[in-house]
Amino acid sequence: MHLFARSTVLRLLFLRFAIVVMGAQRTMSTCKLTNVPGFFAQDLPETDPKTFDYIKSNFGLLEEFPVECDELWEKDATPVPRWDRFKHALAAMNRDASKHTSYRVLFLARHGQGFHNVAEVYYGTELWNSYWSKLDGNGTIVWADAKLTDQGIQEAENANAAWKSQLALGMPLPQSFYSSPLQRASNTLEITWSGITLDKGAPDPTIKEKLRETLGVHTCDRRSSKTYLHETFPEFEFEEGFTENDKLWVADVRESNAERTVRLGETLREILENDQSTYITISAHGGSITSILEVIGHRKFAMNTGEVIPVVVKVEYCTVEVGNEVYKSCCVKV
Ligand SMILES: *[C@@H]1O[C@H](CO)[C@@H](O)[C@H](O)[C@H]1NC(C)=O
Repeated sequence: MHLFARSTVLRLLFLRFAIVVMGAQRTMSTCKLTNVPGFFAQDLPETDPKTFDYIKSNFGLLEEFPVECDELWEKDATPVPRWDRFKHALAAMNRDASKHTSYRVLFLARHGQGFHNVAEVYYGTELWNSYWSKLDGNGTIVWADAKLTDQGIQEAENANAAWKSQLALGMPLPQSFYSSPLQRASNTLEITWSGITLDKGAPDPTIKEKLRETLGVHTCDRRSSKTYLHETFPEFEFEEGFTENDKLWVADVRESNAERTVRLGETLREILENDQSTYITISAHGGSITSILEVIGHRKFAMNTGEVIPVVVKVEYCTVEVGNEVYKSCCVKV
């Protein structure tokens, strides 16, 4: 993984260099991401996010898919939920896709309830935004880089149980795990995957800076040091270049939703260009997941704390030509 990432960076540098040297007009473009609806109830306009229960509805998996299945599958009495058919459909879509296209599944997980969630309800959003969110806490509780409440821990344990029971029914196991560096997200990932993958060796989750919640002003969105995170989550790895201290958060300016969406688009493309896994899980936040959904053109879907939704994404690489060589935007020579 690291070797691959490094060689990608080298190729990227070479490509940039080649473009400059050869005076080519074409610049490198990033890959296009599109939600493929039809597999999960969350994609449908009639699904109400407020009443949707991912645990009771098999993470929203539908019974019919928008791809043709082999006759074999039509004849067989398939168990519900149809995870085997889903995996089969994804494999078939990837097999039949052009070499510039791949289909991926993102399991988007919102952290369990944190102390900042409780405080916002307690004070009301207006007072929270204008005053309390700027403080580290109120003397009774602390919400700077907020920890999970007991309810939040319970929500993550519910996710753990839901994964265990669906994995037993054939749900695909994620091949890669990414987390926001805010501890409520990392802790949720840790609880969700304990006893499944986390304490069973590999793969280690990776903390990625830009997966975090809206930046600035609110202390709940200011992250702890790398040293603290490493001590608290020893089984997690850090993306390359992860700094000791938080360099993105400032006390006086709150990131806009549009800026946040640009940031999440960058980090999502980085993940999809450097990681060829089909099944990827991302532990993040209400705001950052809203942005991810926007980037892939998914309908709006406001998530409750601790909720997990899968989305299918079509990833199309743009190509760039340098001399006689053709590169994908992720700089893998084709
Ligand atoms: C601090 O906030 C919590 C709710 O978030 C509340 O239960 C508690 O009473 C507050 N403490 C003070 C001193 O106001």
